[in-house]
Amino acid sequence: MIIGFIGFGKVSKTLFDLIDSPEIDFATSLEGRSAKTIENIESSNIEVLESFEDVAIKSDVLVSATSPKSALSVAKKYGKHSNGIYLDLNNISPKTTLEIDNYVNCLVDGAIIGKIDSNNPVLYLSGEKIDDLKFLNEFLETKKISDNVGDVAILKMLRSVYTKSVSALLIESAEIAQKHDLKEEFFDILALTEGEDFKEKSLSRITNTLNNSKRKSEELEEIIDCFDDSDLIMVKAAFKKLNR
Ligand SMILES: NC(=O)c1ccc[n+]([C@@H]2O[C@H](COP(=O)([O-])OP(=O)(O)OC[C@H]3O[C@@H](n4cnc5c(N)ncnc54)[C@H](OP(=O)(O)O)[C@@H]3O)[C@@H](O)[C@H]2O)c1
Repeated sequence: MIIGFIGFGKVSKTLFDLIDSPEIDFATSLEGRSAKTIENIESSNIEVLESFEDVAIKSDVLVSATSPKSALSVAKKYGKHSNGIYLDLNNISPKTTLEIDNYVNCLVDGAIIGKIDSNNPVLYLSGEKIDDLKFLNEFLETKKISDNVGDVAILKMLRSVYTKSVSALLIESAEIAQKHDLKEEFFDILALTEGEDFKEKSLSRITNTLNNSKRKSEELEEIIDCFDDSDLIMVKAAFKKLNR
């Protein structure tokens, strides 16, 4: 079996390192890539082909792990050359996933929940051919969601609905607690019902949200656009809060 990578950054390199089997070969290309990616590729023992088109033609599983912005154009360009599974791992919305499905023969919608380089990355998958990717379970935990492309993207976005709205609420309540000089006590009483590590997790969530407020608010905007037929009072409030 050959696994081809379009994009050879953190995600692809980690998968390449994890999937260690004599029955699996890998391929990618240097076509148009930055010095950083070229270095990443050259320091790995991976076959380098002339073009990404060649990678798509040759691969049984073609992994797209580039960036949310280029996921669709990459699928438009190389999807038609892939006759095996096209596994899209980019952080994209359900709308983009369904659009990609128009350009790809056999799409599997994938999402890494958490960071790929965390201790236990979990890969969620949806699409008709997910059973053909069962072998991945030997190397990292995978979870099959359904046969419907787009279900994983919806789940990933729902997770964002919850985590980003809760973060906005945490920021607001911690600000009020601070104003009353009761921040420590506030987290202590919450920990009674929410669990001992609640304070640590909440403070980390608040810092992370404030440090990345522009990106987070863009992601909330995407959620609002994507689920525009749902009642999104809380998400809209979180969006407003992060834009303050
Ligand atoms: N890192 C994570 O833990 C994580 C978790 C969940 C989801 N994701 C998603 O997975 C995707 C990849 O993430 P990453 O962390 O691996 O990113 P990364 O480290 O920035 O790597 C991206 C790779 O894609 C290449 N690339 C970009 N545009 C391309 C194009 N049009 N054609 C071919 N190659 C292209 C880049 O090459 P150049 O250097 O030449 O630009 C680079 O090799 C993203 O969509 C991200 O949202 C990542």
